[in-house]
Amino acid sequence: MEKLKIDIKNALGTVTAGDVDALLPEAGEALAKVDNGTGAGNDFLGWTDLPTRLSESLLDDINATANSLQDECEVVVAIGIGGSYLGAKAVIEALSDSFAAYRHEPKSTKVVFAGQNIGEDYLFELMDYLSDKKFGIIVISKSGTTTEPAIAFRLLKEMLERKEGKAKAAKRIVAITDAHRGALRQLATEEGYKTYVIDDNVGGRFSVLTPVGLLPIAVAGYDIKALVGGAAAMEADTKSASYDSNMALLYAAVRNALYRSGKKIEILVNYNPKLHYFGEWWKQLYGESEGKDHKGIFPAAVDNSTDLHSMGQWIQDGERTIFETVLSVEAPEHETLIPTDNDNLDGLNYIAGKRVDQVNKMAELGTRIAHVDGGVPNLRITIPALREGYLGQLIYFFEKACGISGYMLGVNPFNQPGVEDYKRNMFALLEKPGYEAETAAIKAKL
Ligand code: PA5
Repeated sequence: MEKLKIDIKNALGTVTAGDVDALLPEAGEALAKVDNGTGAGNDFLGWTDLPTRLSESLLDDINATANSLQDECEVVVAIGIGGSYLGAKAVIEALSDSFAAYRHEPKSTKVVFAGQNIGEDYLFELMDYLSDKKFGIIVISKSGTTTEPAIAFRLLKEMLERKEGKAKAAKRIVAITDAHRGALRQLATEEGYKTYVIDDNVGGRFSVLTPVGLLPIAVAGYDIKALVGGAAAMEADTKSASYDSNMALLYAAVRNALYRSGKKIEILVNYNPKLHYFGEWWKQLYGESEGKDHKGIFPAAVDNSTDLHSMGQWIQDGERTIFETVLSVEAPEHETLIPTDNDNLDGLNYIAGKRVDQVNKMAELGTRIAHVDGGVPNLRITIPALREGYLGQLIYFFEKACGISGYMLGVNPFNQPGVEDYKRNMFALLEKPGYEAETAAIKAKL
C-alpha cells in the first residue's frame, strides 16, 4: 500500500527549519508520553494500539452484524453525537457516491444519522422518511446518558416497535456503549439487544476504529478490514522519534512552532467535497483535545474551491494569525474530460481535453502560491486516493499527531471538561431532577 506523505516546505518562512529542528527533543518527549503512557490522561490511550489489537474475530462479528442489518433493512439509522457520530460520517461520506442519497438502489442499505442535533424538523422529517421503510437502528453512546442521542433513540425505538412489534424491533437494534455503566447499557440488557463495548480507555473522539465507527461503515458497504489495515500501517510508522520517518511527529512539531509564532488558527483545507466531514471529524479531534486551559490552536475547515469564493478573501487578506493544512487527493476515482466547443462562447477551449481534476490541481497550486505569498504557511498531506486503506492511515496519523501535539502544548489531550458546562445549564433550564440548585441559580440570571 502506498503511504500518505507530508510536505512542510511551504510552511517555512514565519518559522524556519531550524525552529522546527529545535523542537525535536520536546516532540520526542511528547511522543514518548503517548507511546509509554507517562503523560496526563494516560488512562485514555487505548486507541494507540487499537489497529493492531483489534481481533479478526471482532471484525468478522461486526461484518456479520452489518450483513444481517443489510438483509433486514432498507435504511439503518446511526444514532450518536460527537465522537459517537463524526468518524463514521466522515468515512462514509469520503467513500460514497456524491448522489447516493438520490439514487434508487433497492439492494443497498442506506445509512442515515440522528441524535447529532436536537432539530425538531430534522427528527420529524426523518421519521416521515422512515414511515414506509424497513429500518434498523445502531445507537451509540459511550456514556449512555447523552441527551441528543437519547431523545432520537426514544422516538425511533417507539416508532420501530409500533411498526414491527417489540420482538422484531429488538432484532434490528444494536447498541454500542460502555460495558457496564449508563442508561443505554441497562436498557440494552433489559431489551436483549445485540451490543458492542466501547473500551473505557478509548475516548469518544478517538473511537472511530472501534465498533462505534466500524459498524455503521460496514453497514454502508465499506471494507473495515482495509480501513483498520491502513491504520495499522500508520501505527507502525509513527513510533520513531525522527521527523523523516514519523510524519505525525513532524506535523505536531510544525503546528506547535507556528502556534508559538502567533499562528493561532489552523484551517484544514480539502479540494474534494467528499472530505467535508473529515474536516468536521478533525475539528472535534483537535478542538476537544487542545482547546483548554485558555490555550490551543483554533481548528477551522474549508471546502475548496467552493470556499475560495466565500472564505478565500479572509484567508488571503485577513489577520495574519492563520496557517493551513491541505488534504490533497492525488487520484480521483473517475475520469471526466472537458469537451471542446466549436463556438467557444464561454472561452473555455483553452482547457478543452483536460481532466476536471487537472483544473482542480491548478486551483490548489495557484491558491497555495497566493497564500504562501500572502503570509499563510501551508502544510500539505497527500492522499493517493479516497479508499479505505488510505483513510485508515489518515485517521491514525491525525490521532497520533493530536496526542503528541497536545502534550507539546502543555495540556491533557484526552479529557474534555469544557463540554459539561452547556449540559449543566441545559439540565437546569429543563428542570431535570437533581438540578434544583442549578435551576434556581440560572433562573436568577434570566
Ligand atoms: O469526544 C468525546 O468524548 C465527546 O465528543 C463524545 O463523543 C460526545 O459527547 C458523545 O458522548 P457519548 O458517546 O457518551 O454519548
